[in-house]
Amino acid sequence: MNTTVRVAEGEAPQEKSAAVIEPERHASVVRWTHWLTTLAFLLLLVTGGEIVLSHPRFYWGETGNVNVTPWLNLHLPSSRDTVPTGYGYVLPDQNGWSRYLHFQSAWLLVGTGLFYLLFGLFSRHFRRNLLPARSDLSPKALGVSLKKHLRFERPAAAEAWSYNVLQRISYVIVVFVLFPLMIWTGLAMSFGFTAAFPLTVKLLGGQQTARSLHFLVTIVLVLFLGVHVGMIVLSGFRTRMRAMITGRATPTEGKP
Ligand code: HEM
Ligand code: HEM
Repeated sequence: MNTTVRVAEGEAPQEKSAAVIEPERHASVVRWTHWLTTLAFLLLLVTGGEIVLSHPRFYWGETGNVNVTPWLNLHLPSSRDTVPTGYGYVLPDQNGWSRYLHFQSAWLLVGTGLFYLLFGLFSRHFRRNLLPARSDLSPKALGVSLKKHLRFERPAAAEAWSYNVLQRISYVIVVFVLFPLMIWTGLAMSFGFTAAFPLTVKLLGGQQTARSLHFLVTIVLVLFLGVHVGMIVLSGFRTRMRAMITGRATPTEGKP
C-alpha cells in the first residue's frame, strides 16, 4: 500500500520503499499567517470604513476639522451631525464597536506579522522564496515578465512551485513597506502611543498626515488585493488555493 509522507517546503520529493513522499508547496507557518493576515485585513477594512464615515474628509499636518479645507473630501454621508456633508440626514453611529474591533484586529495583524517575519528570517523563506534574484531584476528580464502578464499568458508549470519576479516584487513591497507603514501610521494616530513615543507622529508631520497616509495606503492595499486575487484566478484558482490551504500541490508537476 502507498503511504504519503509530507516533506518540508523546498525539499525534493523522494520515494521510500512503498511510501511516496509528497513535497510541501507552502510551509504551514506561511499558510496560517497568510490566512490570519487576510482575516485581520478584511476586519480592519470594514471597521476602518466605518471610522472614515465619522469624518469623511482628510487633512495634512496637525489640525483637521470642519473649519479647515480638506485635501480630500469623499462627499459621503457621515455618522456625525457636526460634519457638513450636504446630505439631509445622519448615518447611524457605528463608531463604538468598529473602533474596538479595529484595534483588536490590529493586534491580530501585528502579532501574526511578527511571527511571519521571524519565521521568514530564520527559515530563510524570504531569501529563498520572496527576494527576487539579481539577474531577474535586469530591465530585460523584467520586460519579459511584464509582457507575459500583459498578454495574460498562463504561467509555466514550474511557476506553481515558485513566485515569478513581479509576484516577488509586489510581495516584498506589501510585506516590508505597506504593512509596516499601516502599523506606523496607525500607531501615530493613537494618543496613548504618541504620548510615550512622540517621534512616531513628529516624523510624519502630524496626526492628520498620519490619518491621510493610513487611508492612502489602505487604497493601495485594496488595489493589491484585487490584482492578487485576479492573478490567482487567472493562473489556476483551484491549484493555487489548494496549495495555500493544505500545503499540497500536484507532487512532481513542474517541480524544478
Ligand atoms: C490583504 C490580504 C492579502 C495579503 C496581504 C496577501 C499577501 C500574500 C503574500 C505576501 C503571499 C506570499 C506569501 C509567502 O510565500 O510568504 C501570498 C500568497 C498567496 N495568496 Fe495572498 N494575500 C492576501 C489575500 C489573499 C486572498 C483573499 C487570497 C485568495 C482568495 C489569496 C491567495 C493567495 C495564494 C493562493 C497565494 C500563493 C500564490 C502562489 O502560489 O502563486 N491571498 N499572499
Ligand atoms: C492593513 C490593515 C489596516 C487597514 C486596512 C486599516 C484601515 C483603516 C481605515 C480605513 C481607517 C479610517 C481612517 C480615518 O478615517 O481615521 C483607520 C483608522 C485607524 N486605524 Fe487602521 N487600518 C489598518 C491597520 C491598523 C493598525 C495595524 C493600527 C494600529 C497599530 C491601526 C490603527 C488605526 C487608528 C488608531 C485609526 C483611527 C481611529 C480613530 O479615528 O478613532 N490601523 N484604519
